[in-house]
Amino acid sequence: MNNAELLLARLRETHSLSLDEYAALIESQTPELMQQAAAFADEARRAVYGNRIFVRGLIEIGSLCRNDCFYCGLRRSNQTCERYLLDDETILRCCAEGYELGFRTFVLQSGEGCLSVARICDLVREIKRRHPSCAVTLSLGEFERADYQAMFDAGADRYLLRHETADKAHYEKLHPRELSFDRRMTCLKDLKEIGYQVGCGFMVGSPFQTAQTLAKDLKFVEEFQPDMCGVGPFIPHHATPFAAEPAGTVEQTCYLLSLLRLIRPNLLLPATTALGTVDPLGREKGVLAGANVVMPNLSPVSVRKKYELYNNKICTGEESAQCKTCLNARMSAIGFEIVTDRGDIIKNGNL
Ligand code: SAM
Ligand code: SF4
Ligand code: FES
Repeated sequence: MNNAELLLARLRETHSLSLDEYAALIESQTPELMQQAAAFADEARRAVYGNRIFVRGLIEIGSLCRNDCFYCGLRRSNQTCERYLLDDETILRCCAEGYELGFRTFVLQSGEGCLSVARICDLVREIKRRHPSCAVTLSLGEFERADYQAMFDAGADRYLLRHETADKAHYEKLHPRELSFDRRMTCLKDLKEIGYQVGCGFMVGSPFQTAQTLAKDLKFVEEFQPDMCGVGPFIPHHATPFAAEPAGTVEQTCYLLSLLRLIRPNLLLPATTALGTVDPLGREKGVLAGANVVMPNLSPVSVRKKYELYNNKICTGEESAQCKTCLNARMSAIGFEIVTDRGDIIKNGNL
């Protein structure tokens, strides 16, 4: 075995490596090593989740955003972005439609500062009242701890807040000065302490990313022990400062999904829409590399094109039912099964 193979074997056994070792593993990516990592990841995932794939219905509730992240098409400086905000009845209709289609988790996502905390809490309460067997996940950006607490008390089960990068200097190259790495980390800590099932995550191939910054992302996941980790390729958006930057690759994203699965075998790991955008078979490749979640869009078709984080996002013209049928077929074609289930993390023993 060469050094990288030894590191991979150790990661599989101990679920931990040093920063330098993670960086070495990332730099050693070859088709053979990817294949080996995917085989180990598949074994680890099957031991916890079998061939079951969890599905979450993503409802993009608004495209307004007060922030100016350099990578994102919803950034406030993008004047070509058409802004919208769904009303409560529309959101509730999306949930009802999703419920009929077999979704038991609804993810409400938006730009930051779209909705008041009071309105978010009312909405969460009403979704939980109408669908008590379902989980509600929020992905609405940064708030004060008391606000996160209020949303949790209203019934929200989970919160997705990607850390974006675990390297402070890198974070500062992806965001304007008013956004703070330390604050992002404080939010994640607050969410966990409050009792949410928490998801962090990062883009693969974002500008200025290196093997060293990625190693920090892996170490962060190892230490923070999130329930979920959203990892997808960076894809440029034409009206952002990163318009001319290259997209992340399906290969590196899949390799990192495999490593994350080995770090935390029970992690909820989505094969993201961004992965399906850079490669028509990206989501299948993500699942084969170790992912166990897919998050199709439940937003009304009339707004889907307006929630344009990056160029050429898929599924902006399809109805929710079409996406569900499409994903059922895609998953069964590779031997996996989408289940009607809340899809909570399975915690056994010391996992
Ligand atoms: N506003 C909230 C936030 O930032 O946490 C939630 C919505 S935001 C659009 C969700 C995620 O989209 C971000 O965490 C970021 O990782 C991802 N994203 C934004 N622009 C992207 C791009 N150009 N390529 C890939 N992913 C992107
Ligand atoms: Fe706004 Fe989130 Fe996009 Fe940043 S990533 S500009 S906070 S929607
Ligand atoms: Fe939307 Fe295939 S998942 S059309």
